Amino acid sequence: MGLHEDIAEVLFDEATIRERVRQLAHEMERDYAGRDPVLVGMLRGSVYFLVDLTRALGIPHEVDFMAVAAYGTRHAATGAVRLLKDLDEEVTDRHVVLVEDVVDTGLTASYLVRLLRARRPASLAICTLLDKRARRIAPNLPLAYVGFEAPDRFVVGYGLDYRQRYRNLPYIGVLREEVFREGPP
Ligand code: PRP
Repeated sequence: MGLHEDIAEVLFDEATIRERVRQLAHEMERDYAGRDPVLVGMLRGSVYFLVDLTRALGIPHEVDFMAVAAYGTRHAATGAVRLLKDLDEEVTDRHVVLVEDVVDTGLTASYLVRLLRARRPASLAICTLLDKRARRIAPNLPLAYVGFEAPDRFVVGYGLDYRQRYRNLPYIGVLREEVFREGPP
């Protein structure tokens, strides 16, 4: 079966995402002109979004990556997060933009904000393609750029996965319930 057959509904199609990414890049050009920002992509989900964003961004900037994993079952109570890969470069006195595919409970972003703020960046902002606001636990995140508000549904595509699949879909869609109820492959 192809990946597309597992999608119940397309929420944001390819053209809509492309246009929104272009708008976000324009906003960032305005806000970060002359500031040489560092875009920090969170592996792995943000890669698709980050690549399109950086190509649309017409001001000098750098790209770096971090990777984290949630301890145990996903975001059980504590929301403790483990650092798998740190930045390659120092960010002290730099303007940092954390790039995420989705902010859900916000626990991952909250951990990263604390970690990065301890390094004394000149500024720190979050740019997320999707904001699942209804599920937020962590308060006061510096969400400066939001692509779309997403409903509390199981969404995949454009970087978002279900068991590492569907990231390559060019759109964001809702996974059919039968697929994630099927259990282990
Ligand atoms: C996703 C996403 C965020 C996090 C958001 O990553 O990229 O990092 O979940 O969830 P939260 O707001 O509830 O903390 P995931 O752990 O699925 O890994 P991935 O980036 O490899 O898909």
